[in-house]
Amino acid sequence: MNEDAVLIRDLKAHDGREVSIRGWLHGRRTSGKIAFLLVRDGTGTVQCVVEAANGDAFRVASEIGHESSIGVRGTVRLDERAHGGAELSVTGLEVVQNVADYPIARKEHGVDFLMTHRHLWLRSPRQCAILRIRDTLIRSIQAFFAERGFVRIDTPILSPGAAEGASTLFPVDYFGEKVFLAQTGQLYLEAAAMALGRVYCFGPTFRAEKSKTRRHLTEFWMVEPEVAWAGLPDLMDLAEGLICRLVADVLAGHRADLALLDRDPAPLERIVAPFPRITYTEAVEQLRSPETHERLQAGLEADRQRLAADQARLADLEAQLAAAKKGWQQEKLGREIAALREAVRELGQDLENRPAHIEGARTFAWGNDLGGDEETILTRLHDRPILVSRYPRGVKAFYMKPDPADPRVVLNVDVLAPEGYGEIVGGSQREDSLEALQERMRAEGMDPAPYEWYLDLRRHGTVPHGGFGLGLERTVAWVCGLRHIRETIPFPRLMGRIYP
Ligand code: 4AD
Ligand code: MG
Repeated sequence: MNEDAVLIRDLKAHDGREVSIRGWLHGRRTSGKIAFLLVRDGTGTVQCVVEAANGDAFRVASEIGHESSIGVRGTVRLDERAHGGAELSVTGLEVVQNVADYPIARKEHGVDFLMTHRHLWLRSPRQCAILRIRDTLIRSIQAFFAERGFVRIDTPILSPGAAEGASTLFPVDYFGEKVFLAQTGQLYLEAAAMALGRVYCFGPTFRAEKSKTRRHLTEFWMVEPEVAWAGLPDLMDLAEGLICRLVADVLAGHRADLALLDRDPAPLERIVAPFPRITYTEAVEQLRSPETHERLQAGLEADRQRLAADQARLADLEAQLAAAKKGWQQEKLGREIAALREAVRELGQDLENRPAHIEGARTFAWGNDLGGDEETILTRLHDRPILVSRYPRGVKAFYMKPDPADPRVVLNVDVLAPEGYGEIVGGSQREDSLEALQERMRAEGMDPAPYEWYLDLRRHGTVPHGGFGLGLERTVAWVCGLRHIRETIPFPRLMGRIYP
């Protein structure tokens, strides 16, 4: 295999020269005299033109299957119209492995099939676009905190106790002792904040979520900053700044990827500070208000019409498919139909549940936690992320500090992403008084023994402090405009799915 192979991304710099590339066969068109191979190598895709006069190469080009691994030699020709700006006139073709039976055809597949073939599904252009955006988000998170003087702290994954509620703990046998996979790095981060001032952790987090929703993974990545001397307004500013930065970096570097995902960039372009800031109590008022009710009803009506239009279009496409003669037409229509069918199914389901959600909002009682449905409704009332603060104590974690002005609520903030996405950030100022924390733990029936070290932080130089956690996958889903969280992480772990 040619060790001097050029990356497809760099082909444009080699105009007129003969070079080698290595990659996988992504697609092919042939006529009697010419074969067009689409070859991808992870950095790009290029069309390789093989002429019939080119005997052996032409025969091979006509025979090899989808996703065969190949080496191609050829002359680079700049071409404005070509994908990536260049194409290759092939002089030689070497097959590393011919694939006859690639399981993911270019026709339609159900989600279950694709999830079971996730190791191969990753090669699709959509999945590659999502993974590139995820990578940018990770780097942009790290840059954001590094630029503000935060020190990265790697918190443990094996931990002796719960921090976010006992019901979602994954137990692990630790030499005969029962310990758990970390639900958060926060408690350890609080210790580090007392040492270094501004710190953050960024790693995998585990929650035994026993519900199948489009927002929950059992293993997800969370970035958590923790800041000494910070109050709730400081945390809100920090979260707002982080989110603006993440969206700006994706817009700056991933226009083509967003287009490939059919993600309209306009809603992302509106993500600039300041974000609306409301309290939980105001959020409840918004949910219950007659204006909201009217808007929701109007939205329901509009979506019913959209569903009818989509169904008509689906019937039309199906008729076109029945009449289509050419293989490539059938493939193209098949893909379109599969996507539309999925959209129609999801919208139909959504519309079935919607009247109950609308009624739930109208009668929402102060004191209940905002669930996914309420979050979706709230975010549809604003075109930017909203910062919702001061939730009732009873629905939030033991470590949150009550609001001195109204001890029924805590000094917390959740950030709800727009377009129905809902919570991407959860955070709070922490209880910094030893007595108040002990009292709260007693009230919750918590055994203080595993938390003695955490209580120590309130004995030896306690200061006001706080932080938050931003879920990477929920952020990827929102930025990429994905309906479901399962495509936001290379190998998703969900209830009922651990393969591959
Ligand atoms: O609101 P959560 O549970 O907050 C904490 O864990 C705090 N200890 C964070 C802190 O203050 N340092 O989770 C924070 C974020 C959520 O807003 C959401 O984005 C994400 O983590 N998240 C999940 N993402 C995917 N699947 C799940 N099951 C998630 N649970 C939480
Ligand atoms: Mg939360």
